[in-house]
Amino acid sequence: MPQTVRGVIARSKGAPVELTDIVIPDPGPGEVVVAIAACGVCHTDLTYREGGINDEFPFLLGHEAAGTVESVGEGVDSVQPGDYVVLNWRAVCGQCRACKRGRPQYCFSTFNATQKMTLTDGTELTPALGIGAFADKTLVHAGQCTKVDPAADPAVAGLLGCGVMAGLGAAVNTGAVSRGDSVAVIGCGGVGDAAIAGARLAGASKIIAVDRDAKKLDWAVELGATHTVNATDADVVEAVQALTGGFGADVVIDAVGRPETWKQAFYARDLAGTVVLVGVPTPDMRLEMPLLDFFSRGGALKSSWYGDCLPERDFPVLIDLYLQGRLPLDRFVTERIALDDVEKAFHTMHAGEVLRSVVVW
Ligand SMILES: NC(=O)c1ccc[n+]([C@@H]2O[C@H](COP(=O)([O-])OP(=O)(O)OC[C@H]3O[C@@H](n4cnc5c(N)ncnc54)[C@H](O)[C@@H]3O)[C@@H](O)[C@H]2O)c1
Ligand SMILES: [Zn+2]
Ligand SMILES: [Zn+2]
Repeated sequence: MPQTVRGVIARSKGAPVELTDIVIPDPGPGEVVVAIAACGVCHTDLTYREGGINDEFPFLLGHEAAGTVESVGEGVDSVQPGDYVVLNWRAVCGQCRACKRGRPQYCFSTFNATQKMTLTDGTELTPALGIGAFADKTLVHAGQCTKVDPAADPAVAGLLGCGVMAGLGAAVNTGAVSRGDSVAVIGCGGVGDAAIAGARLAGASKIIAVDRDAKKLDWAVELGATHTVNATDADVVEAVQALTGGFGADVVIDAVGRPETWKQAFYARDLAGTVVLVGVPTPDMRLEMPLLDFFSRGGALKSSWYGDCLPERDFPVLIDLYLQGRLPLDRFVTERIALDDVEKAFHTMHAGEVLRSVVVW
């Protein structure tokens, strides 16, 4: 029987989000219903609400979540009722041109649930990133459920579902940071701080945090930064060079995603170093630079989608490291809020007061 539960929706562009009744169908073939235990508030939820992703309103928001499998549809054998899972937006297809070439992290045809969740009047909902987890329960594809150790607090574990994995993977997977590297991270929000934690985990010897907010720099140090640069009163490129023997860092991660921060990343990098863009620019942004600089400085200029992660490979390992005290994932949870506080949390996020607000049940 379809069930009616509470969910947070964005009904129209720019309008405040609403907590309302939504209808969850029974899971069909390949689908799973998950009872949500925690879901973080990510910028992308706000971007959906602002109409910045597409126009398929109403959206069921929320996508950084952990919970328990309630029921599974026909043919699902990867999870069963009672399993503790982190939801992901990269259920790889195994069939597309990227998957066939052994690069499933770039899968161009990831799976989501086939059936639609709806409002009580039958209006179909578009779940954010194919998840929609600001809800008591949600319907996803079985491949979107990654089993992890149930000892991990869901408010912490769920953050791997998006921003923390994106940042950590930008350093470890995309940037291939390794032992002895110097790393600079521009923008120390949840994503940038996760890149810092990832760089520490990978053995980087110098980790330079760059932000305009002194409080964010303090948090960055708690997560592993060895040096800080306040971008309001310093020339970022010169400061990073000064901290790296005059050369620049081996890997520079732009976790803001603006032309000026990307340029800083480009020039704050050592010759033949790597730039990783993980912050998401807006469509109006443009870059103008001498082409010769791209050639003469060499190296790699990369973008990172979801930290080039493979959830089945990465989530269980990161949760184990967290439980062993080797990765302070709990530091990303700044506040725990109720399901009807999402709108307020958007304002807190906008004001830069948190790494993550997490809705808990
Ligand atoms: N690539 C992906 O798969 C992926 C996934 C999730 C989020 N993101 C993106 O990552 C970016 C960061 O997300 P977040 O949650 O950490 O955001 P956030 O707002 O919490 O953090 C941004 C930080 O950048 C700092 N900042 C802003 N402008 C700056 C400047 N000019 N110089 C230095 N610091 C500056 C802010 O003070 C803040 O601390 C966003 O663009 C988000 O959309 C990307
Ligand atoms: Zn694929
Ligand atoms: Zn997100």
